[in-house]
Amino acid sequence: MNPEEGQPADSGISGSDDTEGGNSDFVVVANRLPIDMVRLPDGSTDYKRSPGGLVTALEPLLRKRHGAWIGWPGITDGDEEPIFEDGLEMRPVRLSDDDFAEYYEGFSNATLWPLYHDVIVKPVYHRSWWDRYVEVNRRFAEATASAAAHGATVWVQDYQLQLVPKMLRMLRPDLTIGFFLHIPFPPVELFMQMPWRTEIIEGLLGADLVGFHLPGGAQNFMILARRLVGANTSRASVGVRSRFGEIQVGFRTVKVGAFPISIDSDDLDAKARHRDVRQRVKDIRAELGHPRKVLLGVDRLDYTKGIDVRLHAFSELLDEGRVDASDTVLVQLATPSRERVESYKAMREDIERQVGHINGEYGQVGHAVVHYVHRALPRDELIAFFVAADVMLVTPLRDGMNLVAKEYVACRSDLGGALVLSEFTGAAAELRQAYLTNPHHLDGVKDAIEAALTQSPEEGRRRMRAMRRQVLAHDVDRWARSFLDALTATKDTVRSE
Ligand code: ADP
Ligand code: G6P
Repeated sequence: MNPEEGQPADSGISGSDDTEGGNSDFVVVANRLPIDMVRLPDGSTDYKRSPGGLVTALEPLLRKRHGAWIGWPGITDGDEEPIFEDGLEMRPVRLSDDDFAEYYEGFSNATLWPLYHDVIVKPVYHRSWWDRYVEVNRRFAEATASAAAHGATVWVQDYQLQLVPKMLRMLRPDLTIGFFLHIPFPPVELFMQMPWRTEIIEGLLGADLVGFHLPGGAQNFMILARRLVGANTSRASVGVRSRFGEIQVGFRTVKVGAFPISIDSDDLDAKARHRDVRQRVKDIRAELGHPRKVLLGVDRLDYTKGIDVRLHAFSELLDEGRVDASDTVLVQLATPSRERVESYKAMREDIERQVGHINGEYGQVGHAVVHYVHRALPRDELIAFFVAADVMLVTPLRDGMNLVAKEYVACRSDLGGALVLSEFTGAAAELRQAYLTNPHHLDGVKDAIEAALTQSPEEGRRRMRAMRRQVLAHDVDRWARSFLDALTATKDTVRSE
């Protein structure tokens, strides 16, 4: 069978024979490399870990598999020289300032991101952003085509690169191509807003396997493939890591599955038990003034995360005397994110105003009630905060998975702590023993926080033990294995046809 048969409409790049290419048998393609380049004042370059759950999940895995990672290095007009580090080959893709503004800040983060997160803010549709998105996706497809060995497996990641599967298939029909979406896939009615909806579905259908966190996202995608591309699809419901859907695209069959992502649970569990971390936990509590209770939020500063919701709930609990400002503190660690995008600027101002308000009303000189840190923390420091927190607040309005919730659980081998978790996260499907709450229902959020603060130690241990069982058994290796096994099986199907 010619894998190019049954391709949807022209992607704008010409096909080529499959003799070109590089020598990597396993290639991950993501918008970001796992490291961000930083230009220092003296002109030299340094590196730091790049933000977000995608990198957290994939980096340990790629190192183990000695794969190649293709992505943007975090600065514009950067160097394209490959970087080799600890068994990982990184191939930077260059973005100009205009690419950054139109493809990354524009179409990826002001169009797709809000549309896929339940239109919490209004998506902006600009034709020039779309054109740039097509152009940059093509650049990623071409970089991948020249890195992948003959017959290699390529795993394309996330919403920034939804056109890459089809473009890559046109360039390199010999490759096996998987795609995984790290954010929610929206309900059909919302997706239909997208002016370039057919092109996006066609782009994804270039893959052999399209993966989502939850069966609901997979189901939405199947309906859209029927409606927008006229494809025949299987009708049975998609299961978790099982019962894959099938979409017929010409002579090709595209598999569709649900694979909830996870973390390197054992690694975090081990690190959290370390003596240095335990000591740091004591120091943190001392630095916070030995409060009776510590509440914690850890997020990228993103409007999807519901940071405003938890601050509002906390403020009302203080107001009503249900939480005592003299013995309780809230620590909010917030990684800077997408800082030039309008909706992010507005949200940051709102959150910082709320923090100021709460401290103004309830703090004392030398004793803040909310401690707000607007920067990324080193991993070990973050782990110590997880262990120090009596209550972890995870209150997104919508989140594909939310790895922070799983990280907290993995760090609590002491069975201490409590997790307040929004029902609108992917993690809520697995962490059923959390204090689950609807972030749109403020009184419900307040009740959940109060219940978590006042739980008995036995109740806390019971809940934490059950959540740990889930997180330790379903780690990121299992996620990757289940996706890649299903992807490999598509190869076998093609061969046996
Ligand atoms: P998203 O992918 O939307 O950012 P996730 O919760 O899935 O959300 O993943 C976020 C990742 O970033 C986690 O691994 C988390 O530990 C890390 N992270 C978030 N905030 C901080 C911070 N302030 N300092 C260091 N790491 C952070
Ligand atoms: C989420 C997305 C990732 C993204 C990360 C950080 O995890 O799913 O694709 O890389 O956020 O966002 P940023 O825009 O800084 O890459």
